[in-house]
Amino acid sequence: MVIEMRFTQASTNDFYLTNQERWESNARSYPRRIPIAIREASGIHVTDIEGNVHYDCLAGAGTLALGHNHPAVIEAIKKTLDGKYPLHTLDLTTPIKDEFVEELFSLLPSHFSSRAKIQFCGPTGADAIEAALKLVKTSTGKRSLLSFHGGYHGMTHGALSLTGNKGPKEHVPGLMSDVHFLPYPYSYRCPFGLGGDLGAEVGSRFIQRTLDDPENGIVSPAGMILEVVQGEGGAVPAPDDWLRDIRTITRDRGIPLIIDEVQTGFGRTGQWFAFEHAGIVPDVLILSKAIGGSLPLSVMVYDKDLDNWSPGAHSGTFRGNQMAMAAGIATIRTIRQERLDKHAAQMGERFFRHFAQIGERSISIGDVRGRGLMIGVEIIDTSRDPDLLGSYPAHPELARKIQQECMKRKLIVELGGRHGSVVRFLPPLIITPEQVDEVCSRFADAVEAAEKSIPVYA
Ligand SMILES: Cc1ncc(COP(=O)(O)O)c(C=O)c1O
Repeated sequence: MVIEMRFTQASTNDFYLTNQERWESNARSYPRRIPIAIREASGIHVTDIEGNVHYDCLAGAGTLALGHNHPAVIEAIKKTLDGKYPLHTLDLTTPIKDEFVEELFSLLPSHFSSRAKIQFCGPTGADAIEAALKLVKTSTGKRSLLSFHGGYHGMTHGALSLTGNKGPKEHVPGLMSDVHFLPYPYSYRCPFGLGGDLGAEVGSRFIQRTLDDPENGIVSPAGMILEVVQGEGGAVPAPDDWLRDIRTITRDRGIPLIIDEVQTGFGRTGQWFAFEHAGIVPDVLILSKAIGGSLPLSVMVYDKDLDNWSPGAHSGTFRGNQMAMAAGIATIRTIRQERLDKHAAQMGERFFRHFAQIGERSISIGDVRGRGLMIGVEIIDTSRDPDLLGSYPAHPELARKIQQECMKRKLIVELGGRHGSVVRFLPPLIITPEQVDEVCSRFADAVEAAEKSIPVYA
């Protein structure tokens, strides 16, 4: 029996967007800023229902390491289907799962992988964060968590509790208690008003002294969680020295360090994992997004000394997505064969060179930062006074306008950071030099048009 599917019907974006608005919850987010219905996708491009071809520098919020529908990923999925492998197995093992774990562990520094255990989590990054919270609490018998200003760890109750952005927390009473937020080394808006290496150094010293203060108000920390490059927080990279300090501080005090690489993982920053830049290893590593090769998958990899869980301590129905594991294996092998981690670093530098030129012509680009293909351009309001560090206030309206002008030029970018004033670039790792040039040319035009539309700059 053939089941007919009606996948295409109308020919305008508006048709689908109107339906979406009617049917979907008020919590829908991306369509508000990226108002298109996607018909098909390939590599860095998505084609909307009206036939417009867009450059996708959001790439599933960093999920699509190989871009849309990469042949290696499609072939892996087809092979899983044609091979009659099970599509769903709870957490029962299979040859595909076995191979996936072997591939993943082969990427980790050997002194981590030789002591590593893996937990397959529900398919989202947030579920792996929840698992990590339970793991460190169970294993240490302690209760409070240390997180960072600007950090983002997901939208479930526990993960949201660890997240810096107050917007989504404001209307949700009773989030997980005992979470303490520490300053992250955000040079442009340095919490200590210092910036640069000095700001970061003072930051790690502050954390050390805080943790050693018997009157710091932080009762028995069970773990510390951080992103090596804060993604949603505005592509803010932590300096390597700061990370090494944090590793020493946590290790000396027996505080498990949870590194959230949901967004940075798999080559995006120029290394397989962003923590490798600093030559450290975490106690707990959280991975999702790219590891499923565009399908839902998340895992927690951790030091076996923390494995004091009892059977079923973190279970869940959807933890055995075979197609995602097969797609993940294909993604790992493609990145390895094509050295896409190194390519990401080179393309990142190319972006930076373009942004430096655009910055010379623009009055609203305050800071360009990131690592590899995780880049943020902070939009500022130079019609107002700078702070003592020389940094101007954020300009969310202009950032929004730039995003709209990008959309007009068929360039998809997302906003993040404080007040949503950072334009974020998260293109697939397969982006070519010519595509970087084209993306930057469209962005430059968009910045110019947006600046002209703001009366004070026109
Ligand atoms: C660093 C980080 N952690 C956790 C999450 C949550 O992942 P998910 O949206 O799959 O729950 C995200 C999502 O963007 C993320 O960027």
